[in-house]
Amino acid sequence: MTTQAAGERDYFTDHSVLLDPYEYFEEIRAHGPVYQLKNRDILVVTGFDESVEVLRNARDFSSINCVPGAAYPLPFEPQGDDISELLEAHRGDFPASDLVVTFDDARHTAMRAILNRLFTPSRLKANQAFMEEFAQELVQEAVAKGECEIVNGIATPYVTLVVADLLGVPPEDRELFRQAIDAAPPPGKLGDEGNPKLDSVMQFMGGYFANYIQQRRTNPKEDVLSTLATATYPDGTTPDLMELVSQAAFLFAAGQDTSAKLLSNSMRHIIETPGLQQKLRENTDLIPALLEEVLRLEGSTKATFRVARRNTRIGDTQVPAGKRVIVAIAAANRDPRRWDDPAAFRFDRPKIREHLAFSRGPHTCVGAALARAEVRVILERFFEHTSQISLCEAKHGKPGKRHLEYEPSFIIRGLANLHVTLTPN
Ligand code: HEM
Repeated sequence: MTTQAAGERDYFTDHSVLLDPYEYFEEIRAHGPVYQLKNRDILVVTGFDESVEVLRNARDFSSINCVPGAAYPLPFEPQGDDISELLEAHRGDFPASDLVVTFDDARHTAMRAILNRLFTPSRLKANQAFMEEFAQELVQEAVAKGECEIVNGIATPYVTLVVADLLGVPPEDRELFRQAIDAAPPPGKLGDEGNPKLDSVMQFMGGYFANYIQQRRTNPKEDVLSTLATATYPDGTTPDLMELVSQAAFLFAAGQDTSAKLLSNSMRHIIETPGLQQKLRENTDLIPALLEEVLRLEGSTKATFRVARRNTRIGDTQVPAGKRVIVAIAAANRDPRRWDDPAAFRFDRPKIREHLAFSRGPHTCVGAALARAEVRVILERFFEHTSQISLCEAKHGKPGKRHLEYEPSFIIRGLANLHVTLTPN
């Protein structure tokens, strides 16, 4: 328990907050659903309704800083009631400004229309066959050994190759992608605030995707990369090659840490919440509800970020143009005004899917259906092939004295590793 007042610990750099944001957000919430930090020119939104308000209000709030985070200083001096023009003039000065998640207005709508066409139910269904097969293989190998490390040994290769299959990455290149992603730290790590480095994985994958897309423009196949390569904007124009390359690489990257952490966070809840494993073994149809509760209680994206483009409001709070905002998804998902007994795990919550783990509004996660499906499929295989899954006490200690290591990231909530022992059926 900390003795410091809200706002004194720094969200972006304090190790204790990076490792456990929940207590910090409760300190902030005690001061109301929208809070001005003492040590930075940033508002933190912890209220559910207020978070939805910001996420839906793309007119007044730009997404330009959502990759580097709200600590990234504006590359200009905000002036007046409306900084839209200034922001557009400096858009390219923000890191990751070529990624769809940072786009605003018509440019976002146009790119999003292309992305939405990639994740159709029929594509996801075709991809599911690969998921089933690969999940079976990974789980059977792990059960044969009697143990595994979930985060790096199972979840990362699994979600990496599922997205590779979905995007049509040639099988011979998949191992290279897997190695590049394995070697990279998650986004939003300590030391990135205010000075993020360009992600080397994205650069690496960009080279491959430029090749794939070029090839598919001349020689289209039946895969997502071809759909992307031959897509046109709603006005009939063809996107620039590099614009598509960035989105393709981002699609690949965006699903990695998030889905891998959803699997490992789910596994921890399954093992550590009394009675939960047994209940799920008796009725695996509860897995989708389990995932929604894990997404709400411990979703893998704990915050996203915005900049006010003009003078506006969040709830009762006046927000001046240029104000940077943390939308604390992890706090909104535990707002007691929205959720009864918010810290409790419950399968029977009304409107259980209404959490903000996949955000809300125009930037709502494009991969939500994929993430839900891939984690459900591999959990089903774990239940099928085991009679018990337990935490490895040699690595994580005995119950009551557990030590679990979380990634020190200001974006991602997830375990660095999770060692389990598997009792075969
Ligand atoms: C548990 C897994 C996942 C979580 C928790 C998650 C979370 C999110 C969140 C919170 C956003 C919105 C950020 C904002 O509003 O500023 C987002 C956007 C996005 N996600 Fe996910 N995501 C997950 C999996 C995936 C997967 C598997 C993919 C693709 C393969 C993906 C692709 C994207 C893309 C492209 C966007 C940008 C959408 C836009 O800006 O219009 N995500 N995700």
